[in-house]
Amino acid sequence: MEKLVIEGGRPLQGRARMEGAKNAALPILAASMLAEGPVGIDNVPDLLDIHVMLDILRSLGAAASMEGRKVCVDASKGFASEIPEALMSKMRSSIFLMGPLLAKFGEVTIYQPGGCAIGERKIDLHLMGLEALGAKIVEQGNRITCSAKRLMGADITLDFPSVGATENIMMAAVKAEGITTISNAAREPEIGDLQQFLNRMGAKVIGAGTDTITIEGVERLASCEHRVIPDRIVAGTLMVAAAATRGNVTLEGVVPGHLLSVIHVLRRAGVQIAIDDDIMNVSGARRPIAVERIVTSPYPAFPTDLQAQMMVLLALSEGLSVMKETVFEGRFKHVDELNAMGADIRVDLNSAFIRGVPRLYGAHVEATDLRAGAALVIAGLAANGRTVVDHIHHIDRGYVSIEKLFSQLGGQIERTASVQQDRMASSM
Ligand code: EPU
Repeated sequence: MEKLVIEGGRPLQGRARMEGAKNAALPILAASMLAEGPVGIDNVPDLLDIHVMLDILRSLGAAASMEGRKVCVDASKGFASEIPEALMSKMRSSIFLMGPLLAKFGEVTIYQPGGCAIGERKIDLHLMGLEALGAKIVEQGNRITCSAKRLMGADITLDFPSVGATENIMMAAVKAEGITTISNAAREPEIGDLQQFLNRMGAKVIGAGTDTITIEGVERLASCEHRVIPDRIVAGTLMVAAAATRGNVTLEGVVPGHLLSVIHVLRRAGVQIAIDDDIMNVSGARRPIAVERIVTSPYPAFPTDLQAQMMVLLALSEGLSVMKETVFEGRFKHVDELNAMGADIRVDLNSAFIRGVPRLYGAHVEATDLRAGAALVIAGLAANGRTVVDHIHHIDRGYVSIEKLFSQLGGQIERTASVQQDRMASSM
């Protein structure tokens, strides 16, 4: 199994350009099934989850190819409406295909994606939304079939602004008869990107970015070209890493407007941030200051996807910080690993109490999920001595070659298979 070996203690320095956002690209790829002709999607990150999604599109009969960052999908000949269970279990995001396939074929069969390391992750809101549009839902064990002769526009209110449910309902409603409104919709920038993509195919969607999205159904969706927005979570990860290593990093191709809550929290921690259009410089020359209270919540609040990474900075700051996680119930798995590196963090229900320590120490740690893994990499880069991060397949789901991302900034980080680890590490 591959690992990352990190020699910590060096401030990150230099420039990095942002890749496209995984969480924008995945629903957009699912939505490409709706077009009655080829679509070109640029700035798609070369990640494991993207390849699984392309495999699913192919299994449904679509032609899908990726060259560099450009994906072409032609679903005009797509015929299957059942997502194979084996592929479904590889990636939760296959759930995004429910809406488009239901809209395209009037029927879709999926298998419950199940829980995962960060929480139960139910799909009741997805199903409720599709049912409101007229779908009949039959559950047999973990097999779910949704069917509808004709989807009809409806007024749908979400109990919680779920990102995935908002996206699924949007993708189904674009071909429904009449008008659909989604109230208490999620407002994440990735939803805005999906709206733009759908509209480029000929849909009529307005309101993304606000809590009410209105969709007027159309008959046909056609070919288009689209460029995926930059990944705000990768940008946030680099910002925190720059600060935690007391480095100075310039990010290019960011959308600072997508990162306002992160910028606000980092500035409260004493991190210097300068913004010039799509360029952001982050420098953390001094020891960070504790932040009394951070609460993760749906956008535009502080993102759950940066909670673990931010905790590393707080673990190194002066004073006591409190981080409350309100989006996923199981997203503190990195705490034990950070404590093994010398952090002083105590969890009580959904709050973590972080007493800053002057330094962390290298250790052998395990990535339990994607963002927890990214946090351990940051901790390793900031720590004294050598850190080995195991189970890095989780990290590969969301970061294109994380070792290259950080080594271009002067971080000493290498990927190695366990047998090579000692040889490689002794030469570092
Ligand atoms: N929820 C329900 N019922 C539903 C749907 C969601 O109870 O039908 C609950 C979930 O269990 C969770 C909360 O609502 O507690 C939020 O879930 P949401 O549906 O908003 O999240 P998601 O669509 O499953 C996307 C991202 C996640 C990100 C969340 C929140 C993608 C592919 N995934 O997940 O990204 O954390 O929104 O912002 O877009 C990551 O990239 O590391 C990641 C986990």
